[in-house]
Amino acid sequence: MEKILVIGAAGQIGSELILELRKQYGNANVFASDIKDAPAYIKESGPFQMLDVMDERHLIHFVIRNKITQIYHLAAVLSGNAEKLPLQAWSINMNSLINVLEVARMVEDVHKVFWPSSIAVFGPSTPKEDTPQVTIMEPTTVYGISKMAGERWCDYYFNRYGVDVRSIRYPGLISYKTEPGGGTTDYAVEIYFEAIRKGFYECFLGENTRLPMMFMPDAIEATVALMEVPRDEVYFHTGYNITGFDTTPAEMTKSIQKHIPGFSISYKTDFRQEIADSWPDTIDDHYARSHNHWKSKYDLEATTRIMLEEVKKKLRREV
Ligand code: SER
Repeated sequence: MEKILVIGAAGQIGSELILELRKQYGNANVFASDIKDAPAYIKESGPFQMLDVMDERHLIHFVIRNKITQIYHLAAVLSGNAEKLPLQAWSINMNSLINVLEVARMVEDVHKVFWPSSIAVFGPSTPKEDTPQVTIMEPTTVYGISKMAGERWCDYYFNRYGVDVRSIRYPGLISYKTEPGGGTTDYAVEIYFEAIRKGFYECFLGENTRLPMMFMPDAIEATVALMEVPRDEVYFHTGYNITGFDTTPAEMTKSIQKHIPGFSISYKTDFRQEIADSWPDTIDDHYARSHNHWKSKYDLEATTRIMLEEVKKKLRREV
């Protein structure tokens, strides 16, 4: 019987992954946790616990007491916010991961860990088109440095201690349930909310800034697919490249205008432009597709159609 702990359950990925895991493993067996309150649908559909992953004693006690067998550690400071307080972000992103890896090493019941990596592991010297799985990684952001170092720690814990930790290098994730906070790819979510709210969006990245993106249902499926692969078939314990589609603010605008012809955009770039410019345009994810038997289903047009419908419903409910 699996007992799963999700750390960062109130965040952009956690708030959706929880629902899928509860469907698969039973509501009572998936423990949601965060340092902030979670949406009602999370608290009402299964156990929820306030838990600070930085508090290693509380973490290990919780894991032992609840006989946890798998940990999904999703809490992190994203790229934009991390640049504002680099050392704090480094400490949170790294120490929280080390705490989770240590618990997995020490507690025998814990046999699988998931931790998200990111396209931020790449930097200006990485090939920008079809960025390969194994390539030059010289990230220039503190978030990217923490993800790259985190990947090395995951691989180290697997090789040295046999901790079965698995990871995905997510591209920008587009979703409507919980908005991201403080990331460079956040524009690709904000644009839909502002299109519905105001019919206008002021974008913090330039119109032709190309980045890899993915609609959240694809990301959830990719995560579940990776976690289901038998242990001896997981080839990379660093992080698997994955991608849905690549796009720019100008292309997203066109795609929204097909549904809202009056939608307009203006551009006022900020410090995140430099971060975006250091990341890949497109990603080669053939390993994730062949090793994990997964493939993305949503292109930009499908994402736009569903995002506009769902954001409209959500904002109507909030009025
Ligand atoms: N979406 C993240 C960010 O922009 C990248 O992993 O920070």
